[in-house]
Amino acid sequence: MEYGTIIREALRMREAAYAPYSRFRVGAALLTKGGRIYTGCNIENAAYTPTSCAERTAFFKAVSEGERAFAAIAIAGGADGTKKLPLCPPCGVCRQVMAEFCDAEDFQIVLAQSEETYRICTLKELLPLGFGAELL
Ligand code: THU
Repeated sequence: MEYGTIIREALRMREAAYAPYSRFRVGAALLTKGGRIYTGCNIENAAYTPTSCAERTAFFKAVSEGERAFAAIAIAGGADGTKKLPLCPPCGVCRQVMAEFCDAEDFQIVLAQSEETYRICTLKELLPLGFGAELL
């Protein structure tokens, strides 16, 4: 699988981040199994806890449009003005949201530092022994 398009979209979405408190900008691009892309950015809040991460913004946009099957997500994050982005792994809450909708063995998480430099993990690698609907 070629992830160039979602990596570029995640990098582009960093520009849309609303992050006046942390100044840490994150962009995400979520690829559905049908080939659609839903983007997201982090959206902070003066009360801090209502903040949404880029990944959850993308997931909630997609799910609210009726999407339920996802292939991959690209994530690009780093402090405002950073020239060389670090790897930005998703937070625990976002991993749990991914687990609600994605097959852990199959869903690909593309941690992008640039178009050329990225690392791909499965959700299973990032959330082993996760809690899920099968337990309820
Ligand atoms: N953030 C994300 O958007 N995604 C992550 O995976 C990690 C953290 C955001 C939340 C907050 O706006 C800022 O980055 C610093 O934590």
